[in-house]
Amino acid sequence: MTTSILFVCLGNICRSPAAEAVMRARAPQLSLDSAGTGGWHVGQPPYGPMQEAARGRGYDMSALRARQFSAGDFLAFDLILAMDPQNLADIEVQRPGGTLTPVKLFTDYLPGDSAFAGATEVPDPYYTRDFDGALALIEDCAGGLVASLR
Ligand code: 4NP
Repeated sequence: MTTSILFVCLGNICRSPAAEAVMRARAPQLSLDSAGTGGWHVGQPPYGPMQEAARGRGYDMSALRARQFSAGDFLAFDLILAMDPQNLADIEVQRPGGTLTPVKLFTDYLPGDSAFAGATEVPDPYYTRDFDGALALIEDCAGGLVASLR
């Protein structure tokens, strides 16, 4: 049974904490966390414009703090979900021998009837500046993820 899920992006201040916040609202019984493959923002709260967009859709991200992904996360979580294929590759190179923890793309869970169906990454709003669009995509991925766990 999947009871713990880790969301991973690059900085852990935009996409993965947003995914964590959306999933906390939809599946409070799960153990959820997020992390970044990079360490630049460790200890910082989510990026202001990301928090603002999230608040607009009813999610409070203010208590979250960035941390860096580590190999130990393969042992601590049932499922690891990457926001883009580069994140997935950067996670997989750290896999400890003998661990079978699945690492997948969050977009793998997009429902077929989503407006975003076929997307293979959550575009990084830190660069695109489309924070609300990233949240809309994350909400669709989260809906498919919740359905897959039932
Ligand atoms: P995230 O976005 O991976 O969605 O948190 C980023 C935020 C900051 C940086 C990169 C990506 N950065 O290089 O500072």
